[in-house]
Amino acid sequence: MKLMKVLFAAMMVGVLAIAAGCGNNDKIVVATDAAFAPFEYLDKGEIVGFDVDILEAVMAEAGLEYELKNTGWDPLFAALDDNQVGFGISGISITPDRMESYDFSNPYFESKLLAVFPESLKISGMQDLAGLKIGVQNGTTGQEAVEKILGKNHSAISKYDSTALAFMSLKAGNVDVVVTDNTVAEEYIKNNPNDKLQTYTDPTLFAPEYYAMAFPKGSELKADIDAALQKVIESGKYAEIFEKWFGYAPNTEVLLQ
Ligand code: ARG
Repeated sequence: MKLMKVLFAAMMVGVLAIAAGCGNNDKIVVATDAAFAPFEYLDKGEIVGFDVDILEAVMAEAGLEYELKNTGWDPLFAALDDNQVGFGISGISITPDRMESYDFSNPYFESKLLAVFPESLKISGMQDLAGLKIGVQNGTTGQEAVEKILGKNHSAISKYDSTALAFMSLKAGNVDVVVTDNTVAEEYIKNNPNDKLQTYTDPTLFAPEYYAMAFPKGSELKADIDAALQKVIESGKYAEIFEKWFGYAPNTEVLLQ
């Protein structure tokens, strides 16, 4: 009887050890929507991009283990709401609306919106968007900006689950214009030279936006991530990653203010 108890105890210790070691319990799950090149996209099944490299550098600096999960855009925020992930990195702009529901790291990238459309169209002001079919990714700042011009749920606005889908729709001629982040727009235009696309931006309507990692409100991770990000920027690692993806040196001053 005594032997049985000892054996049982030993077995339980074993089971617990396996559970702790094998599970990803100790890894922080980071959510992303990997259809937003060059920030996060799939390359032969692997998630790559500027954000992915920044995340890797920051987590190494913070000494934290993590697993990057391609949840998609809307599910990313749902996962934050339910505390199912540690945080999200996905070219997420800090906005007043989102600040009510999430905590943000310090910013790591400056962006602005662009309208992308075929060279055959003439757009010289935002008023020219009226009468055109516009594609945006659902739940993005692009959608918000276009709705500010045309009105909420306007019939000319098509909302897609991903920015990649919005671009496919532009290629197919289902929409005339896509409004999205400048760096993503420029990457798409570069990769699709035959589509003969051009861009327009409105400096007053499309103000600078800042990307940051988004946490569930009250997350204790934020402080560690901010400290690590600061070190990654100050050490020059940030500039190295930036140059690798964009081919020029970043202005880190804006980020450190
Ligand atoms: N910066 C824009 C926003 O925060 C678009 C981000 C979309 N990111 C993505 N991975 N699809 O609304």
